[in-house]
Amino acid sequence: MIRIDSEPARKFLSDEEWNTARNIVKDSSEQLDKRTGKGTEWLGWQSILEEPNDALLENMESIGSEIHKNGDVLIVCGIGGSYLGARAVIEALTPEFRDRGPEIIYAGHHISGRYLKRLMAYLDRPRADGSPKQVYLNVISKSGTTMETAIAFRLLRKWMHDRYGDEAVSRIFCTTSREGGALNKIIQAYGYRKFILPDDVGGRFSVLTPVGLLPIAASGIDVKRLYYGAVDSRRKLQEDRANLHEYLTTRFALYRNGYAIDLIASFEPALVSMGGWLQQLYGESEGKNGQGLFPAVAQYSTDLHSIGQMVQDGKRNIIETFLHVKNAEPTVSLTAESRDYDGLNYLSGKTMEEVNEKAFQGTVQAHSEGGVPIFIANIDELSAESIGHAIYYFELATAIFVYTLGENPFDQPGVEAYKKAMYRLLGKRD
Ligand code: PA5
Repeated sequence: MIRIDSEPARKFLSDEEWNTARNIVKDSSEQLDKRTGKGTEWLGWQSILEEPNDALLENMESIGSEIHKNGDVLIVCGIGGSYLGARAVIEALTPEFRDRGPEIIYAGHHISGRYLKRLMAYLDRPRADGSPKQVYLNVISKSGTTMETAIAFRLLRKWMHDRYGDEAVSRIFCTTSREGGALNKIIQAYGYRKFILPDDVGGRFSVLTPVGLLPIAASGIDVKRLYYGAVDSRRKLQEDRANLHEYLTTRFALYRNGYAIDLIASFEPALVSMGGWLQQLYGESEGKNGQGLFPAVAQYSTDLHSIGQMVQDGKRNIIETFLHVKNAEPTVSLTAESRDYDGLNYLSGKTMEEVNEKAFQGTVQAHSEGGVPIFIANIDELSAESIGHAIYYFELATAIFVYTLGENPFDQPGVEAYKKAMYRLLGKRD
């Protein structure tokens, strides 16, 4: 479950400002439900949760467990919505240092030759026992034409064929649209296994399709629990949106008052990639026609020692959204030492989680007093269900918020500008 506490942000608004914003949010929420807003041909992220496709989930589980059992490395080759969701869920739910399951390596999310060269050299190096690494490759591109992903796939595909010969075909998985795009031509020519991203689901809303589910399953995460967490979230939010509306109303009213930056922060490093996923979801959906809050991501307490000064004391145009785990499992406890050289004996008997929680509460208090409106997104625990819940909550929040701006939440026309300029410089023919 997820609930957002908007109280520490609301105190920066007058009742009048809040009530005006509330009416606009209610209208926007209705527009989404009645399908009268912009981009209604892109609402598949909702319909996939209405009638869960268990056969698809089982297929993801079965291929995922094949990779989990046999793979040393799974390369997830994609950019933007084609990898951020998988990365967010994997990093939230799998141990940082693990002995089982494949190492997940991301590629195709930039154009660094240095990175790819080193990646291939790493794949070439044998395991500790001298045997070759077992490598699988999942390329993900809805359009099938994104250059960053296509270049990496071309090079990694060659590596796979050089290493495995014909067997490479059974180790390469492709996720793309039903039809069209260069990737579909490659799939047809080589016979790779293909998974479909439905046409009515946009990239950044696609984590609960094979785009996210296959790498997530390969990491050993229970995709059914994740998916049904989102199904439950949808059901609950159809019955009761009071908490969501309060959050959106407060965020929208602050935006109208000139707040420009939404800093998504977490004291749990495992949730920082969730912040990255949310950054894209909010940023690419809102940033249109001179509008939207700029989403930034911070990992605390690390970044309190870098940007903390700015948040506490810089230009007052920042709101902060904390991704906060309510019931963090206790891990390490601190013990007393006979000589208290480091002066930490006052913490003895406390768990690291208790200390981290106090650091979180202290930061909320300090930033709030420093003039930062704060939202606390309370996630029950780091479980597949809770993360599934949060995914749908934030997807719905995005769609409704962008309707308050009068924009289309589901397109990203601005992303084409750099591509056009780059293609012109590279001499690409139409
Ligand atoms: O959300 C989006 O639609 C984008 O971020 C895309 O996911 C991203 O540009 C990658 O596109 P594609 O999957 O077509 O390679």
